[in-house]
Amino acid sequence: MDISKIKNTIKKEFEEIKNSKELRDFSKKYLGKQGEIRKIFGEIKDMTLEEKKVIGQEINSFVKEIEVEINKIEKTLKQDSLEKIDSSLPPIEIETGHLHPLTQVRREIENIFQLMGFSVLEGPEVEDLWHNFDSLNIPEGHPARDALSLGKTFYLRKNLVLRSHTSPAQTRYMKKLGAPLRIVIPGRVYRYERTDASHETNFYQIEGLMLDENISVANLKGVLERFLQEFFKKKIKIRLRPSYFPFTEPSFEIDMSCAVCSGNGCSACKKTGWVEILGAGMVHPNVVENGGLDPEKWKGFAFGMSIDRLTMMKYKINDIRWFHSGNLKFLKQF
Ligand code: PHE
Repeated sequence: MDISKIKNTIKKEFEEIKNSKELRDFSKKYLGKQGEIRKIFGEIKDMTLEEKKVIGQEINSFVKEIEVEINKIEKTLKQDSLEKIDSSLPPIEIETGHLHPLTQVRREIENIFQLMGFSVLEGPEVEDLWHNFDSLNIPEGHPARDALSLGKTFYLRKNLVLRSHTSPAQTRYMKKLGAPLRIVIPGRVYRYERTDASHETNFYQIEGLMLDENISVANLKGVLERFLQEFFKKKIKIRLRPSYFPFTEPSFEIDMSCAVCSGNGCSACKKTGWVEILGAGMVHPNVVENGGLDPEKWKGFAFGMSIDRLTMMKYKINDIRWFHSGNLKFLKQF
């Protein structure tokens, strides 16, 4: 066996190593468990003890030499690859998520009402029939149970529905907290709708309720005008149209001047310059009574406002279905 010839081949091969992959391959080929050097040890096992000793030593010191060299070259290779990293380059931007526009707007609305002295509360999304209908002066067989908006209720079981509006929270909190009351209850509501640009099967409302000894429609108007001014950061015109809800008397539908076209007429307001944003009225005495309070003493207003509509007005969004479309291009704008 010509040890020096073997050493020369190994050295030559070693000098040609250009990158860490080749270095790994080299180590494996010669130093690995099944490497060439092991094989040499296998071959010398039939030699005399004396020969074995000499050759064994020579190989061992050669292996040590190689290992030292490998360590060195490993370091230089590492250094080289570090130098290839340009630390002056700007970092890759990591995309972070953010709150959904409806959540952002809901929080904004809550803040404004809190500044006006309203507490923010929550009601359950699964309601019993009594709270969703009866307590609100809509007894069984009452036409309002089939009427346009409230007749579109999702029934879960005989006595349970997905709330079709946030109004059931009115009697819940009258019973729980008594009066006077100044509260808003935001939340998701469900309706069996044929969806289009302005209708969704679920959307968000915020219920408002103010009960005290001396409340009139003027308070309702004042609170809403102030709210809209804060929310849109400019004076917004509103108009009250007489309407009907079993749980308020008198009842109104309230429009705001269209914020998309400033009242000039566009598709968002169906060319009328006005957009309906809420239903409201003076709380019906029967409802106050169902809330366990004395209707002679406690009077007040209630309103139910669509958070989706307000968001659409604020950001000039022309179709309510964008909100749950999952479209990231849409969402990233907020
Ligand atoms: N609950 C009514 C609706 O969803 C809105 C409303 C709330 C009306 C409170 C009057 C008072 O259409």
